[in-house]
Amino acid sequence: MQSVGIVGVGTYLPERIVTNYDLSEIIETSDVWIRSRTGIRERRIAEKDMLTANMAVEAGKRAIDNAGISPQDIGMIIVATVTPDYAFPSVSCLVQERLGVLSGTPAFDISAACTGFIYGIVTAMQYVQAGLYKYILIVGADKFSSIIDWNDRNTSVLFGDGAGAVVIGRVQKNRGILSFDLGADGTGSKHLLANPMVSMNGREVFKFAVRQIPLSTELVLKKCGLKKGDLDFLIPHQANIRIIEGARDRLGLHKDKISVTLDRFGNTSAASIPISLAFEIEQGNIKDNDIVVLVGFGAGLTWGAVCLRWGT
Ligand code: COA
Repeated sequence: MQSVGIVGVGTYLPERIVTNYDLSEIIETSDVWIRSRTGIRERRIAEKDMLTANMAVEAGKRAIDNAGISPQDIGMIIVATVTPDYAFPSVSCLVQERLGVLSGTPAFDISAACTGFIYGIVTAMQYVQAGLYKYILIVGADKFSSIIDWNDRNTSVLFGDGAGAVVIGRVQKNRGILSFDLGADGTGSKHLLANPMVSMNGREVFKFAVRQIPLSTELVLKKCGLKKGDLDFLIPHQANIRIIEGARDRLGLHKDKISVTLDRFGNTSAASIPISLAFEIEQGNIKDNDIVVLVGFGAGLTWGAVCLRWGT
């Protein structure tokens, strides 16, 4: 079968920084509480006219440039989001038009909350592997600031806005995606939902995440005949530093082998994994031939992981 991998990455983060101190002026909270309970120092919040689609377009453009291709080369667009600007049309159709991707190119959104980007990668991978499309753009974009009750200190301190994108395409035989794990458990749907504002049972989501990250990570490694010790870099969904540290301990991973970007960006939902991936590539922390696992979890409850041998 055709090997499929990530051939380009791009991000967009709004300029406006909202610190914990800023939040402590509008709700009863403190920088010390937020930092010690979550690891978050600040987050980016989009201006009113910066819609989810605008952020997705910017990240998508950068990923296409980074892949060294043009928008006309894109065969399909998938946007993972739970904060679309309209019930319809989808964000992906807006992205198609604004990026100058050829009219007629299929485009659809995926709703799997913070796991949406992983669902998107795994979906896209099937089409490229089957030889149906050469390049697919996957964007994770969310504007949680639009669905947060800013008076609810349980949730308002956790999230930020942003977008991250990748292009997937064919890669040489011994590179690319080696295995994946996807799952959902609707019995946990009550723990994290938006109708229309976000409400959450933080403790339940916390327990689920600390359990699920190591489970999915070990499973994708096992599926391609690898062990924990073979893992070079882990990119987990960025929700809470204590979740990441708990998972890291269970996996016995050194702290330099796991991505942490939530201190600067908070939880950017579907965007958090591609944003972290792009950041780690830029820092030189992911090298050719490295074994990399991307792992997410979120509302649904949903989870997913992808194991790759990095390189094109
Ligand atoms: N500032 C100050 N105090 C706060 C607060 C805030 N922003 N938010 C909650 N508190 C208070 C609570 O009211 C509670 O007070 P009480 O004991 O008087 O009732 C106290 O802090 C402890 O709350 P608790 O819920 O036990 O804190 P916690 O250690 O579980 O941390 C979360 C709360 C939300 C940070 C944590 O549960 C979490 O991160 N869960 C996972 C959430 C997540 O990842 N969601 C996204 C998934 S994609």
